[in-house]
Amino acid sequence: MSAVATDTGAATATFGKDLLGLKDLSAVAVTALLDTAEGFLEVGTRSVKKVPALRGRTVVNLFYEPSTRTRTSFELAAKRLSADVLNITVNASSVVKGEGLIDTARNIEAMNVDTVVIRHAAAGAPQLLAENLQSHVINAGDGAHEHPTQGLLDLFTMRRALGRVKGLTVVIVGDIAHSRVARSGLIGLTKLGAHVRLVGPPTMIPMGIERLAETPGSVRVGHDLDAALAGADVLMPLRLQLERQGAPLFPGKREYALRYGIDQRRLSLAPGAIVMHPGPINRGVEIAHDVADGERSVILGQVTHGVAVRMAVLYHYSGGQGELA
Ligand code: CP
Repeated sequence: MSAVATDTGAATATFGKDLLGLKDLSAVAVTALLDTAEGFLEVGTRSVKKVPALRGRTVVNLFYEPSTRTRTSFELAAKRLSADVLNITVNASSVVKGEGLIDTARNIEAMNVDTVVIRHAAAGAPQLLAENLQSHVINAGDGAHEHPTQGLLDLFTMRRALGRVKGLTVVIVGDIAHSRVARSGLIGLTKLGAHVRLVGPPTMIPMGIERLAETPGSVRVGHDLDAALAGADVLMPLRLQLERQGAPLFPGKREYALRYGIDQRRLSLAPGAIVMHPGPINRGVEIAHDVADGERSVILGQVTHGVAVRMAVLYHYSGGQGELA
């Protein structure tokens, strides 16, 4: 299946067959996806939450890792576009009998599906599928590599809350080393002209991570959270990804919360900043209860926006082009 182009007015956005990471998208394509999502956001507020853009198309959610937000969001997005949706629960599939990823996916594709949405613990699994399937493949999070739709919904949320992405200062705090959200965030943010401060214990920040930035000098790495908060527009604490950490990278959750948790005192060091979190949240560790539920938190807004953003992604990557109007 060939690339699709969208005329955004100023420049033409091109989308390939698959969405594997924000690294592969131009700034124009990222902006076009966010603009499409703006149009789809309103659909979720209607009493009949459906448009016919993908009527007759089939989307399969193939999740090899647990998920609350992303899987549900992709399912709702596909249904709101009138696509047929199939959810494969890996534990109840022939994967438990030893079937490999490519065989599973090829069998699903043989039922004439248009798009496969995959989450997998192994970085590169979506790429492997993309190389072996004719269907469109969308990465719903692969290991510690990328989570492009999370990156897009985060950009979308910032744009809606603060009116822009360019020039923002975004502080991402925590287990950067194991976070696909941090990677997609860093790439997407610097593609659109934001500044990123990565903060965490030295054991959780990989050497040279700033080289992922799309603009030289747009990423700063530090270990002192209080010092990094001045002038921030967005605070984004991350969950400790204990399932991906081998040996412990920090003495304990209590000490982590003291040094890297976002609480009211730290919030006061970044007056005006909004608080985001990709979820799931560990309250009292990376974020205090009253910050997560406070008036500067846009965390649930991120979840709402996630459906509109995934509608935009499915629309552009499932052959919906030309039907939007
Ligand atoms: N943010 C995110 O990916 O959440 P889930 O793991 O619940 O999908």
